[in-house]
Amino acid sequence: MKQYKAVNWNEPENDYALMFWEQNIKQFWIDTEYIPSKDIDSWKSLSPEMRECYKKALGGLTLLDTLQSNTGMPKIMDHIDSLQNKSVLAYMCMMEAIHAKSYSTIFTTVATSRDIEDIFNWVQQNKYLQFKASTIDKYYRRLADTDISKEDLFMGLCASVLLESFLFYSGFFIPLWLCGQGHMVASADIIKKIIADESIHGVFVGLLAQDVYKKLPNPEASKEKLVNLMNELYENELKYTEEIYTDVGLTAEVKEYVRYNANKALMNMGFEPIFKVKRVNPIVLNGLNVETTQHDFFSKKSTNYEKATEIVHLRDEDFVMDTSIAV
Ligand SMILES: [Fe+2]
Ligand SMILES: [Fe+2]
Repeated sequence: MKQYKAVNWNEPENDYALMFWEQNIKQFWIDTEYIPSKDIDSWKSLSPEMRECYKKALGGLTLLDTLQSNTGMPKIMDHIDSLQNKSVLAYMCMMEAIHAKSYSTIFTTVATSRDIEDIFNWVQQNKYLQFKASTIDKYYRRLADTDISKEDLFMGLCASVLLESFLFYSGFFIPLWLCGQGHMVASADIIKKIIADESIHGVFVGLLAQDVYKKLPNPEASKEKLVNLMNELYENELKYTEEIYTDVGLTAEVKEYVRYNANKALMNMGFEPIFKVKRVNPIVLNGLNVETTQHDFFSKKSTNYEKATEIVHLRDEDFVMDTSIAV
């Protein structure tokens, strides 16, 4: 008879679950605590082509977060033995749902109901977006069985890292690029929170993939499958990028950014980079690193959004001014 185990956080199951749990909690946020309506004037100042590009980028991002929340995280969780790692994945799954919703929070302040409907229809019709989703989902679906091979699990975890650390970035480019020039700044605060989360998700699931990789019967063959999958998705990313960025003249720069993040995804899975990257637009790189935002997941929360996680009660002495400090 199966014995059901309770998660015991007082005994470490590995040397990273607690660290990832705590970092995830520190990064917690919800979309409704941001005010994208501050961007209405900025939105009106954008060209129709730029607005179209922005809406399509956010539509595509919504699809990926929906897939990750509804299928990716729950399916992966089923095959992870450590109960503490499962808890971290469960938390991440909840954040994916917040991410997916947050794009709607931006849409509802800048777009009409008709526009929003058009975007969601476009997402359903766009062959490149549908290819991304169906390709990743194919690996997630294999995890639906209880009895799967180590390679199936490895490929499922890799598909997740590719989604988190690579496939999002063609969409993230435009909000970061605009924000770096002072446009759509309030909405970009939300996007930067999502990017900080995806960063920690990619690293965590990448570590899980590395653990499984060590136990594979034929690691070289599995790695080749991963590289083939990466290349297949990369070719699709190039076409997707051309479709949404040609009218705003940013295609070449976005492709460079796509390659940069493809390499990061490979490194999260413990492999060497395979794409040559010349120069990533510094505005976009800085967009991840401005003083209000911390992209590095080991660092703190964004400084423009703080939730109290460690509450220290005030005492009477706290109100007494220290006159010994020179002003
Ligand atoms: Fe997400
Ligand atoms: Fe994620």
